[in-house]
Amino acid sequence: MLSPPPYYPHVDEERASYTGSSSDEDDISPREKSQTAGDGFTDFCIKNVAQAAFGRREIEIAEQEMPGIVALRKRAAEDKPLRGAKIVGCTHINAQTAVLIETLISLGASVRWAACNIYSTQNEVAAALAEKSIPVFAWRGETEEDFWWCIDKCINAENWQPNMILDDGGDATHLMLKKYPAMFKLIRGIVEESVTGVHRLYQLSKQQKLSVPAMNVNDSVTKTKFDNLYSCRESIIDSLKRATDIMFGGKQAIVCGYGEVGKGCCQSLKGLGCVLYVAEIDPICALQASMDGLRVVKLNEVIRNVDIIITATGNKNVVTREHMDRMKNGALLCNMGHSNTEIDVNSLRTPELTWEKVRSSVDHVIWPDGKRIVLLAEGRLVNLTCSSVPSFVVSISAATQALALIELFNAPAGRYKADVYLLPKKMDEYVASLHLPSFDAHLTELTEEQAKYMGLNKAGPFKPNYYRY
Ligand SMILES: NC(=O)c1ccc[n+]([C@@H]2O[C@H](COP(=O)([O-])OP(=O)(O)OC[C@H]3O[C@@H](n4cnc5c(N)ncnc54)[C@H](O)[C@@H]3O)[C@@H](O)[C@H]2O)c1
Repeated sequence: MLSPPPYYPHVDEERASYTGSSSDEDDISPREKSQTAGDGFTDFCIKNVAQAAFGRREIEIAEQEMPGIVALRKRAAEDKPLRGAKIVGCTHINAQTAVLIETLISLGASVRWAACNIYSTQNEVAAALAEKSIPVFAWRGETEEDFWWCIDKCINAENWQPNMILDDGGDATHLMLKKYPAMFKLIRGIVEESVTGVHRLYQLSKQQKLSVPAMNVNDSVTKTKFDNLYSCRESIIDSLKRATDIMFGGKQAIVCGYGEVGKGCCQSLKGLGCVLYVAEIDPICALQASMDGLRVVKLNEVIRNVDIIITATGNKNVVTREHMDRMKNGALLCNMGHSNTEIDVNSLRTPELTWEKVRSSVDHVIWPDGKRIVLLAEGRLVNLTCSSVPSFVVSISAATQALALIELFNAPAGRYKADVYLLPKKMDEYVASLHLPSFDAHLTELTEEQAKYMGLNKAGPFKPNYYRY
């Protein structure tokens, strides 16, 4: 008999609060409650402002592991480069994003904030923000209708004309564009964090409906390398351990996709002694895997023997019902890619198979002959569902977001047109440099002679845009 996971009380949706502190004391919708923060502030709608002290501790803990964004806050606090910025924010609301929100405010911005995901808000963190008189509209377990209402409250408020948007998924951008087109025209810039949101921006730009410049921070080098490679390297093991108590040494595992995420997963699985296989469609990535000492195979060739199957392709139907029919008893199956279609989970919802929920986010799917496979997070992103993202990685993306806002807000007229831009490389380098002191890392400086020889400015950028790190 399996016991419940020790420190993971109720989490079954993407990036949910991992503290378990958000348990609902009542079922009254926050929209029906009237709450007042300590200093009489009422411009917010959250679950329970009384949780503020607990949320403040969570924010302080996150700050410890977010040296880059905290350094940026200190360095720019006097200049206040965001003085006059009125930002509509729509991101996950957790301890790490709270550090970003408070940084933007200390750089001079006014903000109004909503959640980009109905399940991911840490209620106590929202409470801590409200207690600091920050207009925040979010709680864990919003309905779809609440979700849009909250974003609307951030866009449309008395004496408030926003001039910047910080979005994660594109919902605030789209609501403003559709419902408040006149307001949208006065926006100076949009900063977008997610793959999906960036895709929507490029579509708008193609249809010539984008009337303001937008910064795609999703594709900054510091984001791709750190969020995809290093963060996944840490969180794959954490999520599998928390969900299943599995021992990795000697297990046979296959990782489908040897891009950034796949490489991160392989590094840590290899470190723990797994016998590793990789499936790839791209000969370059397949060659990289081979040079890294991994066996490149077709999933079909090893499916009967492997103990762990991880998808990380960004593709669909990588693991099919046919594969799952052939998996061995006890095989562990999960997905690290963005969409929940990498594993054809729907094909498992047939009458002859029995689903048994053994823990939050852990299902046993049982075949008529008694064979069972262990499916994690129903095929959704396993690390965001079963563990959490390291604050250090969020510090990097938060610093990138803050710098993108500063750049767009302060750019002279004409520097950016109504299009989608990547963050200038110099800023990517700056974000990285903000994080070096926490490792006591000392950069070598170019001499005049070396700079001349390389054709570089001594202060960077140090690489051309096409350089692949
Ligand atoms: N879990 C997380 O925290 C997290 C973080 C960042 C990105 N992601 C997501 O993970 C996915 C992968 O991201 P990435 O940065 O590694 O992308 P990537 O493009 O660098 O790598 C994906 C790899 O999968 C390969 N591939 C595609 N179809 C395949 C198939 N049918 N079989 C085998 N290999 C196949 C591609 O050739 C590519 O090398 C994306 O969906 C991304 O959004 C997840």
